[in-house]
Amino acid sequence: MNRKRKKKLKIKKKNFTIFLIIIIVITFLITEFSIMVVNKLSTPETVEKTTKKKKKKEKSSELDQLDNINETINYFNNDYIKRYISYKNSNPSLETIQIIKNVNMQLDKIQYEDIIPARNLNTPKVLVNKYYYLEEDYIPKDLETISSMYALSGMRLVKEAKIAFESLSKAASKEDLKIIAMSSYRSYEYQVDLYNRYAKQDGKEKADTYSGRPGHSEHQTGLAVDVYNGKTDYTNFEKTKEFKWMNSHAHEYGFILRFPKEKENETGYEYESWHYRYVGEEIATYIKENNISFEEYYATIIKDW
Ligand code: DAL
Ligand code: ZN
Repeated sequence: MNRKRKKKLKIKKKNFTIFLIIIIVITFLITEFSIMVVNKLSTPETVEKTTKKKKKKEKSSELDQLDNINETINYFNNDYIKRYISYKNSNPSLETIQIIKNVNMQLDKIQYEDIIPARNLNTPKVLVNKYYYLEEDYIPKDLETISSMYALSGMRLVKEAKIAFESLSKAASKEDLKIIAMSSYRSYEYQVDLYNRYAKQDGKEKADTYSGRPGHSEHQTGLAVDVYNGKTDYTNFEKTKEFKWMNSHAHEYGFILRFPKEKENETGYEYESWHYRYVGEEIATYIKENNISFEEYYATIIKDW
């Protein structure tokens, strides 16, 4: 009897040991499996995937705030999303499309701060204003003197603009009209003197409404020209027959009225009836037909922000 009990006890012990071993093995396997899963989940690819997903979600909520206008216009700049939203928040009455245009035109920035080097140098597409600047040593290529029949002495423009301007003046002269260039290419140094003189005379704030600061005047591109009719002061050019003619024909020769009425907040300058800018016939015609500023053309068509 005693031997029988002993044997039973021995069997029980053996079973318990086997049970214990099985439990240990199962625990080990579960732990290993969990470690494997956790490791798999936090591989660089998975982390990247999760971040990407988060970013996508964030972007889609940002686009919702902009009425998903990116789906309907082709001048939506993905790099400007945060700026669009911030501008929209400070201008809640503006339509989203105007928000996009204004920010593309850099109007959310403070003039002359955080400025951008002008792109498309030495082409008629170059944009120079209070946000885009030319370097101090920038001198356009191919400057040529305008014929003295159509300009005050020594006036220069870039060759392509000079040829176009002479054709324009010649065509006007056939109708007994005089379109004379009185200021055209101006160097950086020349603009320093001019702007400083105006600022001294009228104060900086007023001067900024009609004169470009050095590096910010498109006269330095060799593509801009101020005109008059040889007798009336240029500030009254608007009242002349020549102005009327320019209004109908300047675009045919590739010129635009660069600072029109009611576009002051886009161009940054008061209306100037005498300042024309060569952009080429195609762009000039588009701008005229659509009654937009060169800034808007740049922000919606050229898009080289
Ligand atoms: N008068 C124009 C704005 C200029 O100075 O470039
Ligand atoms: Zn001018």
